[in-house]
Amino acid sequence: MATFKVFWVVLLMSQQAFFAKANRTKSLVEALYVFGDSSVDAGNNNNLNTFAKANIYPYGIDFNNKSTGRFTNGKNFADVIAINLGLPLPPPYLGVSESERYKVATGINYASGACGILNDTRDVRRKKKMLSEHCCLTVKLIVSCSFCYYFVPKGDCLSLDKQVEYFNSTVTNDLQKHFQSKDEVQHHLSESLYLLSIGSCDYALNYFRRATYQNKTPVEFADYLLEKLGSKLKELYNMGARKFVVAVAGQLGCSPSEFCDEIKNEKVKPLSDKLPRKLQELQTQLSGSLFISSNPFNFFNEIRKAPEKFGFKTLTKSCYVVGQPICENPKDYYYFDFAHGTEANNELFANECFSGSRLCSPTNIEQLIHAI
Ligand SMILES: *[C@@H]1O[C@H](CO)[C@@H](O)[C@H](O)[C@H]1NC(C)=O
Ligand SMILES: *[C@@H]1O[C@H](CO)[C@@H](O)[C@H](O)[C@H]1NC(C)=O
Ligand SMILES: *[C@@H]1O[C@H](CO)[C@@H](O)[C@H](O)[C@H]1NC(C)=O
Ligand SMILES: *[C@@H]1O[C@H](CO)[C@@H](O)[C@H](O)[C@H]1NC(C)=O
Repeated sequence: MATFKVFWVVLLMSQQAFFAKANRTKSLVEALYVFGDSSVDAGNNNNLNTFAKANIYPYGIDFNNKSTGRFTNGKNFADVIAINLGLPLPPPYLGVSESERYKVATGINYASGACGILNDTRDVRRKKKMLSEHCCLTVKLIVSCSFCYYFVPKGDCLSLDKQVEYFNSTVTNDLQKHFQSKDEVQHHLSESLYLLSIGSCDYALNYFRRATYQNKTPVEFADYLLEKLGSKLKELYNMGARKFVVAVAGQLGCSPSEFCDEIKNEKVKPLSDKLPRKLQELQTQLSGSLFISSNPFNFFNEIRKAPEKFGFKTLTKSCYVVGQPICENPKDYYYFDFAHGTEANNELFANECFSGSRLCSPTNIEQLIHAI
């Protein structure tokens, strides 16, 4: 209830809120900086040349009926975290004009749907090809003896590299202008929270679809992703970030269309299994840093066992299917569309990571903030 009220206050304050200095007595941290994919994109993709956009009805039907580019009916995972922190919803970096960016000191969202940890992860388009030796070696999905489908990259998005590059620009240009002194900027950065929700597309649009990483086993691919992710986290640390929440791909094998492909799930699992150790290593290396990770596997298994206990009537149907009318009560659904969660789903996961004990470790976000 309390979070619901805060949300409307935030909406009413609209753009103004982003531009006001954070009221330090009210918010738990100075700012929330968000990196990732469509699980947390707040509209960056609206400004890019891609089909991976959610800026049309019925996306946002429970967000004042505004299709902001969020891939859900209401708030996304990052929005709910921001509300719990007492902050305005971080605006999409590409949605704020260059000349106004310096005014924002409560956090910015760099996330971009269809992107991932790897530079070459992006939206794909299916192509049909007549079967030949070359085709047999490179395709993933052979449909018949005479032809096969393969996927080619198509469309733009902000890779994690690009997102961190933009954050660097925020730090060196915009925050510098906002605060005037370097010390104040560094204080602001160290008192802020950094949320990364990324990795799903590196599997769904890259590892599972394209041939590029076919030679890597799932464990090798996870290690490859973690190495890259680790180096990006270090860059954020070097710019001044200290407190991190990192969420990676969950049970991607489970989706409304294929419920549940356990072989796929097993291929994704090494990433979240190995993440806590990687973050622990970083925390030891980077003095003053604190990391928590979200491991959706166990929590989702609990939900699978008893969806109704968590308020869901169905896990296998999506609320919205293109060409069909939207469901009557999105709250009853786990999935909003073919892949993305409903607001009810986002609230469940975000609130659990914020103050619960079943999703994020070694502490929840509240405890992370109050540590030190
Ligand atoms: C900040 O919060 C305090 C306490 O809630 C309130 O009195 C004050 O007016 C707020 N300041 C701004 C600028 O919102
Ligand atoms: C929501 O927006 C859509 C598209 O703009 C419109 O057709 C619909 O009537 C709106 N619904 C409500 C309840 O305002
Ligand atoms: C990925 O892109 C960034 C720039 O956006 C570049 O600096 C980096 O070298 C690229 N990495 C690879 C492996 O291509
Ligand atoms: C941020 O950008 C500046 C200027 O382009 C560059 O010198 C610096 O190395 C960058 N910092 C990081 C951590 O990437």
